[in-house]
Amino acid sequence: MQVAPQQQTTDNRQRATNPVAEAIQTRRTIHLFEPGRVPPEALLRRAIDLARWAPNHRLTEPWHFYLLGRETAEALAHLNADLVAEARGESARQAKRERWLDIPGWLLVTCRTSDDPVKAREDYGACCCAVQNLQLFLWSEGVGVKWGTGDVTRHPRFFDLLGLDPTEETVVALLWYGYPLEIPQTQRQPVEAILSERP
Ligand SMILES: Cc1cc2nc3c(=O)[nH]c(=O)nc-3n(C[C@H](O)[C@H](O)[C@H](O)COP(=O)(O)O)c2cc1C
Repeated sequence: MQVAPQQQTTDNRQRATNPVAEAIQTRRTIHLFEPGRVPPEALLRRAIDLARWAPNHRLTEPWHFYLLGRETAEALAHLNADLVAEARGESARQAKRERWLDIPGWLLVTCRTSDDPVKAREDYGACCCAVQNLQLFLWSEGVGVKWGTGDVTRHPRFFDLLGLDPTEETVVALLWYGYPLEIPQTQRQPVEAILSERP
């Protein structure tokens, strides 16, 4: 199927004139941050304020945000290093701990659990929309984010450390944030590969 030029997401004219399109298309997952430079807390609070305007079915507002301070971030770095050492051996511990200790900012996003599988799925979807709102806003302010869902975020020790009850909340995203040191390149399939039409 042929896509008309004005429909292409890579249309440069649209990117230059629409700040929402610009943020959506240029945002990248950031793995490396400027060391020791933590974005202002007011910016993070504004990002959370915007995140909660995400669509959510039946207005369940299923999300919760935890701004993690240095003490908690360091405890998480040690916990993750423990788990990595258990899985991959002692030699992996130090590099992983140092990598995590270098991350400037930390934010956790959780979703309220539900016994109703349809509600649980829709609530998780809503939380993902909220995370995207948050990271697009931060990106537009020059702050990069990495969305993490590693094994540590499902470990009972993670819940203990953060004082969370796993029967009440699940982890949607452990977010790292800071000023990007490097912006990775990525790509997507062309629209033609993912768009079908029905009469
Ligand atoms: C639900 C979810 C979980 C993710 N978990 C991880 C993760 O654990 N580690 C990681 O490096 N990236 C993670 N990512 C980020 C993706 O790897 C990233 O979005 C993808 O590589 C595309 O890159 P981009 O965000 O720069 O477009 C996650 C993204 C989503 C939506």
